[in-house]
Order: sequence, then structure tokens, then C-alpha cells
Amino acid sequence: MTNNLVIAIDGYSSCGKSTLAKGLARKLHFIYIDTGAMYRAVTLYFLRNNIDLADEEMVAGALRNIHLNFHSRDYQTHILLNGEDVSEEIRQMQVSQQVSEVSALKAVRDEMVNQQQRMGKSKNIVMDGRDIGTTVFPDAQVKIFMTADPKVRAERRFKELAAKGQNSTLEEVFENIAHRDYLDTTRKESPLSRAHDAIILDNTELTEEDQLQFALEKIEPFLANC
Ligand code: DC
Repeated sequence: MTNNLVIAIDGYSSCGKSTLAKGLARKLHFIYIDTGAMYRAVTLYFLRNNIDLADEEMVAGALRNIHLNFHSRDYQTHILLNGEDVSEEIRQMQVSQQVSEVSALKAVRDEMVNQQQRMGKSKNIVMDGRDIGTTVFPDAQVKIFMTADPKVRAERRFKELAAKGQNSTLEEVFENIAHRDYLDTTRKESPLSRAHDAIILDNTELTEEDQLQFALEKIEPFLANC
């Protein structure tokens, strides 16, 4: 009998979760689901439509009008918000500054978790986020919790943004990451925390290849059954 295999990758902001998740999906021919992109797309919709986060009815109405889809080509995942490819726009600082507040709302989390569970049902997936191993797929066979020195994370993110022509300062990026860590770990609704059975991967001093090898070794025993 074969079972689908779920690889859950959680961790702090800008820790390289998506790089590892994409690398694993490519190597294993699994589906990659970037849940952060989903919260970012919802945030973009809220910003564009001036949704008042304190107004529960307005939030519920907005959620009903949001349709998210992933479109995958060569393991480059594009997210579509009501049919529009917003993959670039959701990485802008304005979205990064609001996304933790939006993703702390219960109505938003309930809807996203529901959609994520449906997307991952009966498929071999690599899903990354903050609550995958604790809330979305608490029975995932492989759980990895990623962490790295906040200064190293800020430097990596700063370089990424600069390469895309976005001119935030290193201080702004560092502050944004520290602020999001704080909000993500202290929010009431499924805060970021390590699942008790997650393997810790501190990648402060590891290359992408080192991380991939580390994860593949942990996953290897489960591959025979999927
Ligand atoms: O992974 P990311 O930085 O793109 O995620 C953006 C934000 O979305 C992050 O600050 C917290 C939130 N998030 C969440 O609350 N739960 C998830 N499963 C994924 C992301």
C-alpha cells in the first residue's frame, strides 16, 4: 500500500524555507506549496481594497471574494490572486509590513488552513510556512523547523531585495524581520512554534546544498512507502 508523504517546513521569516522546500520538491518530484505567499496575497488584496482589519464582516466579505491558485512551471511557483499573477507584488515591503497583522486574524487563518489541507490531501507535498507541522498537517511524516541568526537572515533578504531593484536599507529589513518574528511567535491564533517532533535545522553556517542533503537524509526512510 502506498501513502502520500507530507514534508512540513516551518520556521522564522527569511530563513531559507522556500529555497529548501523548492529544492526538495524538485529533487523528489513533489508538489511545492508556499503558504506564506497565500497570506501575502490576502494581504495585498486587503491593502488594495482598504479592508479594515477590525471589521469582522468586512474581512469575511473580502475572504469570500479572494480566489487563490498556484501555477507551477519548472518549480517556479506563481500565485494567482483572482486570476492575476501577483508573485512579484506580494514581496514588496508594504505587504511584508502588513502581513503579520493580517495573518494573525482567526478568519484569515481558518480559511487558509482549510485551503492548504485541501491542496495537500492525498498528494506528495512539500509545504512551508509557520504552522504546517503544528496545525495544518500535525501528522506530517517529516517536519523540519528552520532557524538562523537574525543578522544573517536580514543580510540574505537584503541582498535578494536589492537584486530585484527594491531599495530598502539593511536596517529596515532587519527591523521588519525582527518585528515579524515577534508577531508570528506571540499571536493568539496558531503562533509560530516548533512541533515537538520537528527536526531543527539551523542554517546560519550551512550552504543550500548542505541543507538539502541534511533534509534528504531525514526523508529517505519514508520514501519507500510513498
Ligand atoms: O514565509 P513568508 O515570510 O512569505 O510569510 C509571510 C507572513 O505570513 C509571515 O510573516 C507570517 C505569515 N505566515 C503565517 O502566519 N503562517 C504560515 N503558514 C505562513 C506564513
